[in-house]
Parts: sequence; C-alpha cells; structure tokens
Amino acid sequence: MKKINVGLLGFGTVGTGVAKILINNKDILHARLGVDLNLKYIADIDTKTDRGIQLEPGILINDAARVIDDPEIDIIVEMIGGQGAAKEFILKAIDKGKHVVTANKALLASQGAEIVKAADKKGVELGYEASVGGCMPIIKSVRESLAGNKINSMTGILNGTCNYILSKITDDGSSFEDALAQAQAKGFAEADPTLDIEGFDTAHKLAVLNALAYGMEINLNDIYIEGISKITPLDIAFAWEFGYKVKLLAIGKYNGNSVEARVHPTMISLDNPLSNVNGSLNAVTISADATGDMMLYGHGAGMMPTGSAVVGDIADIARNIVSGSKNRIPILSYKPDAVKKIPVMPVD
Ligand code: HSE
Repeated sequence: MKKINVGLLGFGTVGTGVAKILINNKDILHARLGVDLNLKYIADIDTKTDRGIQLEPGILINDAARVIDDPEIDIIVEMIGGQGAAKEFILKAIDKGKHVVTANKALLASQGAEIVKAADKKGVELGYEASVGGCMPIIKSVRESLAGNKINSMTGILNGTCNYILSKITDDGSSFEDALAQAQAKGFAEADPTLDIEGFDTAHKLAVLNALAYGMEINLNDIYIEGISKITPLDIAFAWEFGYKVKLLAIGKYNGNSVEARVHPTMISLDNPLSNVNGSLNAVTISADATGDMMLYGHGAGMMPTGSAVVGDIADIARNIVSGSKNRIPILSYKPDAVKKIPVMPVD
C-alpha cells in the first residue's frame, strides 16, 4: 500500500490544525505508520482565507460531496461541527464504507448512538478522541487502558473556554466579557459560546465519557447542567479568601445502580490538584478499582492540541488499514446492542 487518502471536511480552527500536522509532520507519520497519509482534499465553503499553510493546488475545494464520493478516500475527517450537515456527511461517509474521525461532541452526545450503530453495522471505525479534552488521551484511557477496571468516578475540567475565563478573572482581574473575547480570539470557544459558558459543551463531553466508562446509553438529557454565566468576580474573590478556586466541573459517579452526572461551578480547595489547572488546560481525575486514583492533564482546546488528537485517531485507523485488522479500536467499550439502561440519578 503506497498511501492512505484522507478527506477533511471543515477548514476552521481545528481543521487547520489537522492539515498543518498532516503536512508538516508527514515524515514522522510515515516513519511511524509505514505508509503515507495523504491529505487529498479539504472541503470548506471558505476557500479564500489564508490559513498559513501552503497547499498543493486543487486540494481546497468547496464541495463536501465530492470528497465523500471519491472512492480513493479512505478516511473522512469531520471538522464542521454542529448537528446538521455534519451528521449527514458522517452517515453518508459511513454508508460508503469510509472510516470517520470527528471531534463533534455535541453530535455524539445527542445522536451518537445512531452514528455508532451505523459504523458498527458497516464495519468501519469511528475515531472521536478529540471530542473530549483536546489533546488529553481520555477516550483511549477510559476505553482501552482502563478496560480491566471498574470505574467509580470521573471528575474533570473539560471546557477550555470556561477555565480560561475563570482563570483570567482570578489571576488578573479581567472582566468576564474581556476574558470570553480573548478565549474566542484564541480559537477555544464554540461558534456559539453559549454552549461553553452555560455548561452544555462540558455536559456533551461528560455524556460521552459516561457512556464509555459505565457502558450506558449516551444520556445527555438527564445531566444536571449549570454554567458559569452567573459567577461574579466577587464570588471568585470570596472563594479565594477562604482558600478555594472556582472551577466548572463535570462529575460522573457510579454507585452500583445509577450514575450521578452533573456539571456545575464548584469551589475547589487549593490543595486539590484540579485547582492548579489554569487557562485553557483541562484535567480529569479518574478513580477506578485497580488503578486507584489517576489524573490526565493537557490543553483542552485550540488548533494544534485538538488537531493532535484528531491525527492520533487517523494514525490508529491507518495502522489498522495497513495491518488488515478490523476494529482494533472498538467504537464503544461495549457493543451497541449490549449497552445497559443505567439511569442517571436525579440531582436536587
Ligand atoms: N469550546 C471547547 C472548549 C473546545 O472551550 O473546551 C474544545 O472542545
């Protein structure tokens, strides 16, 4: 096999990071995989803006259907976001037998079961490491490294934008609005930043993690969600005076019969390592029966860190294509027809 062809849908912040890594680190990827990863097409409605990458002529087009229909494309990378066109393109790509990589946590959290079932039925792989925690290998950890553990709880800072805003207010007295504008300028925030600041993006990520950790159906609707929009600088100052920082936490806890799943601002004592996770950094502490407590930490948003997680999935799928092994990356920790109806515990 000479090369594996990749088609990228969406040339925004993360799509640009993916293209940069595939092009700039082509030799490293070839050495590690034994095959060329060839970025054959990038589709975006904006083909004019300079993204700071030298592309071969003809790579950037404005026709996603042409990319999905191309029989030479092995892997479709969906970086469009949202739940309309992105879902349609993912399902079309799966139907055509292509492997799919996405970072689309909103889509996975609300319609992931349908997508996972379609991929499973067609025997193609679905990579979604970049959907939670940016460059942190949290999906791999929960799904693969911790496969032999009963996971008791996961507690995490999973939204770079909120953590950036809370850190800026705490560290240099920035206003909420200025800090949000900076997070947007740095490419951390969602196209609609309400998803970040009202806690929905964090809940999307928690829904994906809960499904993996506890073998339950992806369940977004029952998660208690409260964002950071009502937190004032005074709250943060008082918390600091008592030895606490305010962080937006995602909490998923299994009690044997049900899962407690909630997202809300929390006062964290300064001796808890999560209190030192600042800026756009994310972290998750996982408590499991064999490992005890462990922690993952890394950039949770932004062009290159999130692009890195996407390229990691592309590389995993490429290895499987080269070795001929099917589904070395299981698309869920449990087969879709074996997921349990674990209820989410109501939170008062
Ligand atoms: N808007 C998200 C965040 C992007 O700020 O964390 C990464 O998922």
